[in-house]
Amino acid sequence: MAGKNFFASKAGAILAAAGSAVGLGNVWRFPTEAGTNGGAAFILIYVLFMLFLATPIMVTEFTIGRYGGSDVSDSFHKMCGGKRGWKWMGLVPVVGGFLVLSYYVVVAGWTLYYAYEAVTGGFMHKSADDFSADFAAFSSDPVQPLIWVALIMAMTCGIVALGVQNGIEKASKIMMPMLFVAIIVLVVNSLSLPNAALGLKFLFQPDFSKVTSSVVLSAMGQALFSLSVGLGCLCTYACYFRKDVNLMNDGLRVAGIDTTVALMSGLIIFPAVYSVPGLQPDAGPSLVFITLPNVFQQLFGDVPFLAYIFSLAFYLLLVMAALTSSISMLEMAAVYFHKKFGISRPWAAVMVSAVCMVMATFCSLAFGAWKDVLIFGMNFFDLFDFLVAKFIMPIGGMLMCIFLGWVVDEKVLRAEMTNNGTIKSPLYPVYRFIIRYLAPLCIMLVFANELGMFSFLK
Ligand code: PHE
Repeated sequence: MAGKNFFASKAGAILAAAGSAVGLGNVWRFPTEAGTNGGAAFILIYVLFMLFLATPIMVTEFTIGRYGGSDVSDSFHKMCGGKRGWKWMGLVPVVGGFLVLSYYVVVAGWTLYYAYEAVTGGFMHKSADDFSADFAAFSSDPVQPLIWVALIMAMTCGIVALGVQNGIEKASKIMMPMLFVAIIVLVVNSLSLPNAALGLKFLFQPDFSKVTSSVVLSAMGQALFSLSVGLGCLCTYACYFRKDVNLMNDGLRVAGIDTTVALMSGLIIFPAVYSVPGLQPDAGPSLVFITLPNVFQQLFGDVPFLAYIFSLAFYLLLVMAALTSSISMLEMAAVYFHKKFGISRPWAAVMVSAVCMVMATFCSLAFGAWKDVLIFGMNFFDLFDFLVAKFIMPIGGMLMCIFLGWVVDEKVLRAEMTNNGTIKSPLYPVYRFIIRYLAPLCIMLVFANELGMFSFLK
């Protein structure tokens, strides 16, 4: 069946969706956001959003995608019996795909460079100051990061060009298990560090006085980003699901895996941060690039082999996590051109990658030459991240819930969730309540509060 347009196995479908979900969002963005938003209280709100918002939206995307089975705009069109208007939702994955991939690959490029440094022993005998200076010099360089961005983009493009089974499914099946092993080893190591308890306190002892409206918006954005929902990415993948996949169970499984990996990343990073004097949890995007290599060097300075192995494991983990997500981003934009305009899959992937490479250049320069080029007070990188996680994802997710909860005939929804009555779906009533009322209302409230229309939070 090689080359066919569906995932060959149920495990392949779960691993591909989990591959999309688990990524830099868990290992880089989550600790960064948790660190800058005060730790435990943010994490608690994030977990609530995961459970009651992001996971139901994921099941919604699965349902819409698998029902349609071809491409996202067709799925919307078919599912509401051809009602006008909804077909345009098919453009969300295209716009979203371009935007998210363009800034995501910048960080993915950094991870590839750091993996290279780890392999070649480039971290050996460096001090904390060296690591900060090196990161600042590397990320602000106009050319060097772009070489690594181009490399990771080429790898992403290659996998997508290979197709659904030979590219995406195979890559996810190989990389995801390796990623889990690397994470477990790193968690065990971090928990055995001298100040691990302080890291745990930061992660799990909430201080609610730190909760502001922007913390809530950030937690919502993080939950949606981390599960890859709201952009139609998982609709795209679900188009390749077989008809016997249990959508609700798979959604819960993927969400469980994703949340566990995020929390485990916290368990890797914060105990480590507190175990080396002078490091701070709120270092921002540089957190995992400055603090972590430093931690490994400081802790295992006397046993260089261990420092080498742990740095290597960590950055290879980041590269794999980044790749299984970046392929899902490229897929959602590229498949549109492939299906709509009959452009071959490899060419569609190359075209989208080329455009993203140009936009990625803007985002990369935002850390150096263009750091003062601001739009709405944000540089290109922050602007793209804001647009994706705090704007398009919540609005897209809300529209999908309204679509499935209110526009689509209930019989169609129920049939899809129960695989035409062949499986039980005990959580169906809860799920339907969430997508009809709770999810849209919750997103509207967070926005209204953020816009200052009323304020229950500062
Ligand atoms: N969920 C991915 C991560 O955590 C990011 C992503 C966002 C992937 C949107 C696809 C679409 O890294």
